[in-house]
Amino acid sequence: MRRLKNVLVTGGCGFIGSNFVRYLLSRPNFEGVVVNLDKLTYAGNPENLKDILSLYPGRYVFVKGDICDFELLKKIFNAYQIDTIVHFAAESHVDRSILGPEPFIETNIRGTFCLLEAARLYWKEKKEACLFYHISTDEVYGSLGEKGFFTEQTPYRPNSPYSASKAASDHLVRAYYKTYGLPVIISNCTNNYGPFQFPEKLIPLTILNALEGKPIPVYGKGENVRDWIYVGDHCEAIWLLLRKGKIGEQYNIGGENERSNIEVVSLICDLLDEVLGPFNGNPRRSLITFVKDRPGHDFRYSMDITKIKTSLGWYPKTNFREGLKKTIRWYLEHQDWVFQIRSGTYQNWVNEFYGRIKHAF
Ligand code: NAD
Ligand code: TYD
Repeated sequence: MRRLKNVLVTGGCGFIGSNFVRYLLSRPNFEGVVVNLDKLTYAGNPENLKDILSLYPGRYVFVKGDICDFELLKKIFNAYQIDTIVHFAAESHVDRSILGPEPFIETNIRGTFCLLEAARLYWKEKKEACLFYHISTDEVYGSLGEKGFFTEQTPYRPNSPYSASKAASDHLVRAYYKTYGLPVIISNCTNNYGPFQFPEKLIPLTILNALEGKPIPVYGKGENVRDWIYVGDHCEAIWLLLRKGKIGEQYNIGGENERSNIEVVSLICDLLDEVLGPFNGNPRRSLITFVKDRPGHDFRYSMDITKIKTSLGWYPKTNFREGLKKTIRWYLEHQDWVFQIRSGTYQNWVNEFYGRIKHAF
C-alpha cells in the first residue's frame, strides 16, 4: 500500500477538490500535509475550506496561483517536497466551454502539461514513491444511445470543447507514463452532486430555483441521461486508488444511478415540497421550463465500473434519494454561501484580499 506524505491538490477550492481536501485530512491513516494550489476562478471559493486550518493545524497550506505558472510549480515542489499530486484544477462547465473555449484549452491542456513537466523534473532526482493522480470525466468517451456502457477500453470521442480538453489532458498524462515512466493513475468519473457545488450546474441550480420559485430550465425535452454519484463516494474512490491503485492504469468511477434530467429535476421539486410545502400553493414541478437544447448535447453517459469493483472492492454507497436529501439540506443551511457566490461580493473580496498577499517563498 502506498503511503502519502506531502500532497499537492490542485483546484482544492472547487466543488470536488474542497470535498476531497476535507475527506483526505479526516483520514486517520493520513498524517501528511496538503498544499492546495488554486487560481480562484469564479468556481473556486476559499470559503469552502475556511475552517480547515483550525481543524488540522499545520497540515494545510493554501497557495493562490495558476497551474500554468511553471516557476511557481517548481517553488511549491521544492518548498513542500511534494510526493503526491491530486489534479482537480480545470475549467469544468460544458456550457461555458461552448460560449468561450479558450480558458479550457489553457487550463485543462496547457495547465496539465505544466504540472506534468514540473513533476517529471522534480521527481527525476527522487527515489521515494511518487504519484500523479489525474481526475477526469466520463465525458471523454462521448455519447451513448439507449443501451451500452463505457468501459476503460472505450475509444475517446469527446463532443464538447470541455470534454475535448479533458481528453487531451488524459492523453498527456498517459504519454508521460509511457514515455518518461512518470507514475500516474487516471480516473474518469460520472456527474457528481453534493455540498459546495457551484450553482450553475443542474442539481444546485434546480435546488435554488425551486427554493426561490424561479423557472427551472431543462434543456430540450429533459430526456438526456446522466449517471449521478454523491461527491463523498467519489472522494472515497480517489482515496482508495491513491493508496492501492495500479500505476499506469485508468479506472472508471460511477454511481450506477442513471437518471433522465427531467427525472432528477422532478425529484428535487418533490423533495423540496415535502420539506417546505408547495411554493405559493403550487407544486414546484410547475416551475419546470423546457428551453432550447445545448448544442452537441450528449444524450447519455453510463459507466461500467467492474474494474474498480473487482480489483479494489469499491462501489458507490449513497442512495440517490438520500444523497439528494443531504444535498438539499446543505443548500438550505448555507444560504450565506449561496448569497456570497451569487452576489459577486466574494469575487470582490478575493481580488482585494489576495491582491495584497505575497507567497511565503
Ligand atoms: P470546479 O469548477 O468546481 O472547480 C475547479 C477548481 O479549479 C476551482 O477551484 C478553480 O478556481 C480551480 N482552477 C481553475 N483553473 C485553474 C488554474 N489555471 N490553476 C489553478 N486552479 C484553477 O470543478 P469540479 O466540479 O470540482 O471538478 C474538479 C475536477 O473533476 C475537474 O477536473 C473536472 O473535470 C473533474 N470532474 C468533475 C465532475 C463533476 O461532475 N463536477 C465529474 C467528473 C470529473
Ligand atoms: P451539467 O450539470 O451542466 O453537467 P454536464 O453537462 O457535465 O453533464 O448538466 C447535467 C445535465 O443537465 C446535462 O444533460 C445538461 C442538463 N441541464 C439542463 O437541462 N438545464 C440546465 O440549466 C443545466 C445547467 C443543465
